[in-house]
Amino acid sequence: MRHYLERLRQRGELLVTHRPVAARHELAAVTEKVQRTSNRPILFTNVEGTELPVLTNTYGSRERLADILGIGPRDFCRKWNELANLGGLEGPAKRSVPMPNDLRDAKVSDLPLLTYSERDGGPYFTSALFLAEEPETGVPNLSFHRSMFVSDEELRCRLAPTHHLTMYHEKAERMGRPLEAAMLIGPQPEVFLAAAAPVPYETDELEVAANLAGAPVEMRPCKHIDLMVPASTEVVIEGRFLANERRPEGPFGEFMGYYVPVGDNAVFEVLGVSVREDAVFHSINCGSAEEVLTLELSIAATTYSRISAVLPGILDVACLPFVLQTVVQIRQEFEGHARQVILSVFGNSPVWAKYCIVVDEDVDLYDLHEVSWAVMTRARPDRDVIIVPETPSFYRDAHHDHWGRMGIDATAPFPRREQFLRKVVPGVDEVDLDAYFGS
Ligand SMILES: Cc1cc2nc3c(=O)[nH]c(=O)nc-3n(C[C@H](O)[C@H](O)[C@H](O)COP(=O)(O)O)c2cc1C
Repeated sequence: MRHYLERLRQRGELLVTHRPVAARHELAAVTEKVQRTSNRPILFTNVEGTELPVLTNTYGSRERLADILGIGPRDFCRKWNELANLGGLEGPAKRSVPMPNDLRDAKVSDLPLLTYSERDGGPYFTSALFLAEEPETGVPNLSFHRSMFVSDEELRCRLAPTHHLTMYHEKAERMGRPLEAAMLIGPQPEVFLAAAAPVPYETDELEVAANLAGAPVEMRPCKHIDLMVPASTEVVIEGRFLANERRPEGPFGEFMGYYVPVGDNAVFEVLGVSVREDAVFHSINCGSAEEVLTLELSIAATTYSRISAVLPGILDVACLPFVLQTVVQIRQEFEGHARQVILSVFGNSPVWAKYCIVVDEDVDLYDLHEVSWAVMTRARPDRDVIIVPETPSFYRDAHHDHWGRMGIDATAPFPRREQFLRKVVPGVDEVDLDAYFGS
């Protein structure tokens, strides 16, 4: 992550503050204020209770993520699968390196203990991604799981149902043993991106990271558990999930923008912490673009490849303004095309596509004003809306607030589409206002 930090610094994108900042709420508040304005990445060098500087809002824009992958900000759907599956890599995805000599041991409480939202139950680690191996096959998995600080020896972690780490943990429990895992804070950016991607259970996500990087990931051994971790990771917390043990965790202000109440969650016993020399700690404000964007991009890319496999004319897919809505841009080829797209999206994105809007190729799907304009001018509420009653979308929905789906065909009526030619004033884009009014 430090190479990327340097790049941000050299490009003049990084905001740096040396002012003392409280770990409870203040760091998160400054981050949120910046996210609402310039949305630049921030380095806090003087955070209460820790010697480590804290980097926030690192991956919080489509442009920055695209830049890491060397693609355009609108190329995710078309390029993601190609990069993640094939990449520019030839040869092995991992390379073993010896234990670096710049590592020092630390306690969890030496790290920034940051409290984010008003009613959070305590300090949380939000950017840590867990590396663990499938108990039988040994396939490594990477995934994010918020972790509440309890003590230097104990964290409590949200392992949502259906996530691979949850399955590993439950399988290890059935085998009567704890599950060893390493929490990676600040690995190289491609490892971060691979962790957010929904890849099949059998896939080694470190291979995905290597494909994205176009180079093998350098792995070093852990000190307390039998696991290899990416050597460049700034901070590693080693430990194990206790078998058949669940303890209260929460409340926590999470990605949907609400608090999740206290619930019994997994217990992570800390066995050791290692910190690189001059380590930088990565923090994420939950629910901000930095968290949600990675999810939106990977869901959009997956939906794009799945529906493109069964339908023609799919140009692009975006999950905006939030991951529960899928917007699809198509080139219409037959009457009813958009309606088939809606059904296909619902079938292929069962967890996330609560809403689906289909627009034509002349509508910018990344601009929600444009998308709304298409709904206003091209959709009939009595005919172009598909309601699917009583089907769940988001799985964690005990009260059925996320049941039911709505699709809107906001494309122009196929037989009369020439009547929906958008008016254009020739030359607008070329006008140089300074030539008329001065600067
Ligand atoms: C910053 C961030 C925080 C996340 N926090 C959690 C969490 O606390 N619990 C959880 O189950 N999933 C969380 N997720 C979602 C999963 O980590 C993510 O969907 C991951 O791809 C799941 O990996 P898997 O497909 O290997 O199971 C988070 C995702 C991000 C990007």
